[in-house]
Amino acid sequence: MKCTVHASPHFVIGTVDKRLFGSFVEQLGRCVYGGLYEKDHPLSDEDGLRTDVMKLVRDLNVPVVRFPGGNYVSNHRWEDSVGPLQKRPMRLDLAWKALDPNQFGIKEFMDWCRKVDTEPMMAINLGTRGIDEAKDLVEYCNFPGGTELSELRKSHGSEAPYNIKMWCLGNEMDGPWQVGHKTAEEYGRLASEVGKALKLFDPNLELIACGSSNSSMITFPAWEQTVLEHTWDTVDYLSLHMYFRNDADDAETFLASNMKMDQFIETVVHVCDYVKAKKRSQKTIYLSFDEWNVWFHSNEQDKKEPDWEIGKHLLEDVYTFEDALVVGCVLNSLLKHCDRVKVACLAQLVNVIAPILTEDGGPSWVQTIYWPFYYASKYGRGEVLDIRLNVPSYENSTYGQVPYADAALVYHEEKQELDLFVINRSLDEEMELELDIIMFPAQLKCIEHISLYHDDLKAVNDKTNPDTVKPIIKAGGNGPLIAKKKSWNLFRFSILQVSM
Ligand code: AHR
Repeated sequence: MKCTVHASPHFVIGTVDKRLFGSFVEQLGRCVYGGLYEKDHPLSDEDGLRTDVMKLVRDLNVPVVRFPGGNYVSNHRWEDSVGPLQKRPMRLDLAWKALDPNQFGIKEFMDWCRKVDTEPMMAINLGTRGIDEAKDLVEYCNFPGGTELSELRKSHGSEAPYNIKMWCLGNEMDGPWQVGHKTAEEYGRLASEVGKALKLFDPNLELIACGSSNSSMITFPAWEQTVLEHTWDTVDYLSLHMYFRNDADDAETFLASNMKMDQFIETVVHVCDYVKAKKRSQKTIYLSFDEWNVWFHSNEQDKKEPDWEIGKHLLEDVYTFEDALVVGCVLNSLLKHCDRVKVACLAQLVNVIAPILTEDGGPSWVQTIYWPFYYASKYGRGEVLDIRLNVPSYENSTYGQVPYADAALVYHEEKQELDLFVINRSLDEEMELELDIIMFPAQLKCIEHISLYHDDLKAVNDKTNPDTVKPIIKAGGNGPLIAKKKSWNLFRFSILQVSM
């Protein structure tokens, strides 16, 4: 089958904000305890941080990490997670029915962020708490000194303010499962007042209001409208969350999952712009897709985990090659909406629905989904071009006509490089790509073809075979551009100027 990619460097969707390649660390299962932090592990540093995990995170190059939840944050008291470790209380985390020892709190997270070279994106509890606790938290973290809370931070060993810029005003407040779940009116009012207080403290903070937990929520998209009508003057971003599943083991449908994400993003953009028009405003609300991933493999196993323990084995999805293809498609969707989606967080980072797995006391390794994320983060930071594909499609009962190719094209003017990310969704036919790039007198030379392919869609990486699914890297050349059946691909092109 043939796929022609039509584009021009003059037709640009937008410039990618590097925070599109963010991730998420929740106090959940073994993400923190046994993941980021394992005091007695032979590879842990003086702070108990696993250096093997930090290396894999650094390689992924995640510019922003959301913390400490997730559902967890909605019943969390930030004061429990600061100060001397031996004085921190053991608490019940109602969200995940776990014990929370509070040994990895704000300072520990900030130290970890510095070591892996990322920025924090802090979530505030608006489930069980309100304006007072939110403003206290921000003062503790960001005020230089001379007030009770800023001096408290200093006494806890952090002389300089953390200067945390991004703050999520709650988490999934539309969800009935959330501790402190609210109606759109209740949440909109609270978020607006919390946002107002935080902007009085510092107008340069970037605030994210909760959008819908997914596009199937009965309250979607009225939730977005109501929340924005209340919070318009104070928030900068609206959040979106979406997880993808393949319970029916139907590859053709699963591989088209990102079409649902496209529709979700586009609807939310329309609601934001509707409220903008209604308010006669000049302001644009941007989107923070701060939770996304494949999540379903661990659902049954999770029901068997005992309650009220530390570091439960929760949400430990083992990802297949097929999941990696879906993650590649989702990354293309984020790239193609980079004009409005400025922040996105792969949920999550370690052990919990994560690209990185660890064994307690043992090794760490990367899952199949690590690779499309790694390459998108490395080569996706440029200008996304508005491409059109000429490619056959298949009929699908959920998504209608699904093109066999899913692609995104990123232009790097300074390097004179074009990077084409393509997933061939066909389960049985390879695809030959043709580029029809309208541009200045120039020629394209394929300098590298990186692909992810396995005969078995269900292939996984594990502790003993960590490289079952790994990138195949080939030098470019003048031959045809072939994307194997059911494969993820990155074709890198150098733009060579031609003298006239
Ligand atoms: O990422 C796992 C959970 O998914 C988060 O805690 C919650 O926000 C979402 O429902």
